[in-house]
Amino acid sequence: MVKFICADSETEAGRVAAEIMAEVIRIRPDALIGLATGSTPINMYSYLADMYRAGELSFKDVRSVNLDEYVGLPPTHVQSYAHFMSENLFSHVDIRAENCHIPSGTADTDAECERYDRLLDRLGRVDIQLLGIGHNGHIAFNEPDSHFPKDTVRVRLTDSTVEANSRFFASRDEVPTEAISMGIGRILRAKRILLLATGAGKADILERALFGRITPAVPASILQFYQGELTVVADRPAMSVILSKHPDVLT
Ligand code: PGA
Repeated sequence: MVKFICADSETEAGRVAAEIMAEVIRIRPDALIGLATGSTPINMYSYLADMYRAGELSFKDVRSVNLDEYVGLPPTHVQSYAHFMSENLFSHVDIRAENCHIPSGTADTDAECERYDRLLDRLGRVDIQLLGIGHNGHIAFNEPDSHFPKDTVRVRLTDSTVEANSRFFASRDEVPTEAISMGIGRILRAKRILLLATGAGKADILERALFGRITPAVPASILQFYQGELTVVADRPAMSVILSKHPDVLT
């Protein structure tokens, strides 16, 4: 079942996504939430922090797992995803550090993939998994490939992803070329998925992913086989191609 929510603006998309996440946490205060990085969820995290500050939401017993991390970056590196999470959410709310899980970018990568999978096994199914989508259709760092990885994997980032992410680094040469990423099979185990997309640049890929051929060349297309509750929150520019080709999705 896919539910589409078209927000009037990028900010509004973040607010709607935050409300959905907050609702899951209010119903289950020790929810296991799956978190993502990138530009897209920043607004959402800011709304969640606002809710905490306003006394409307507590993360005291919430547990979190992140999708991915760059290989080679320690948590102290400003572009590491551990740092991103701290800056954008964790340091602003009452979540406990020991409940926040992110793959390590500096541990032995193969051993870390194994450790992360055992951790995910122990934690059980994610109550709600937040996902962004890359311009190439990646989810987490599962890049276009000939197969859908099942477990946590070491991935080589495509040139387009390195290029897209270079905007955060001083130069393209500083962008790590490898990452550790939760595999597609792991992502699909979540009870619920919240896919958040904003901006016209995501319009084509969002439509291809959710209505096109299901192929590992477009990793997010596997979401069409997802058995849980998929909610797609997108602003109008990101929804534009879907709305022009499939105008009924909002009814
Ligand atoms: P973005 O990245 O939010 O920075 O566009 C999304 C993604 O690559 O998953």
